[in-house]
Amino acid sequence: MEKRKPFIAGNWKMFKTISEAIETSEQLVKLLSGTIGKDVMIAPPFTALYSVSGIIRESCISLGAQNLFWEKEGAYTGEISPAMLGSAGCKYVIIGHSERRQYFGDNDETVNKKVRAALEAGLIPILCVGESEKERESNYTFSVLDKQVKKGLEGFSLDDLKTIVIAYEPLWAIGTGKTATKEQAQEVHLFLRSLIEKEFGDKLSGSIRILYGGSVKPDNISELMAMPDVDGALVGGASLNPDTFSKLVNYN
Ligand code: PGA
Repeated sequence: MEKRKPFIAGNWKMFKTISEAIETSEQLVKLLSGTIGKDVMIAPPFTALYSVSGIIRESCISLGAQNLFWEKEGAYTGEISPAMLGSAGCKYVIIGHSERRQYFGDNDETVNKKVRAALEAGLIPILCVGESEKERESNYTFSVLDKQVKKGLEGFSLDDLKTIVIAYEPLWAIGTGKTATKEQAQEVHLFLRSLIEKEFGDKLSGSIRILYGGSVKPDNISELMAMPDVDGALVGGASLNPDTFSKLVNYN
């Protein structure tokens, strides 16, 4: 089985004006110029995508968006289509982030439509799943994740999904400073990989990258990345500062 390439992704959430995004991405291009053997993505807010795209074009950094709408175009005030993201230079799109599910009504059904629309437009979806603290305490972690993955990926063929990335982000670890232990992360990542194997076969389960997200910092990334089923990190807060994010990318 081919080794899965580590993938470090930064989700800037609703931070940075265009000029701030330009400054950060210019610094990142310099700091990460020697990077090899890893995939790197940053996901600025929509307004900064196009400017950042021009800055990172020749670098090792790829561009991602934080959301999309599934229709191709139309009277959908405030929404952004997959083709618009592609034309702004995006390669990836984060779908179903817990903040979208919590505040903006995203659910397994809309997540499924968004994954389909992303794939049809040639974007790589990063499908986010994760349990709340209450669900973990009530021993529902695996059943919650089982449902989110099965529904999110319902109706797709193996071929459709060959580029997709999954991000496991336990809600209780996002922005809280509370990271899942490396053992907790590994346990869930192995569960997710086995679920993919059951649903789509071992070719996909062997190649699919499963990222961990939730308070990833320079001082905990190495132990997380040392786990056999952790293939990368989806980083929020610690991706905003170029020095910190470059430390994360250069973990060893
Ligand atoms: P955090 O966010 O790194 O700030 O915990 C992770 C995420 O929401 O993707």
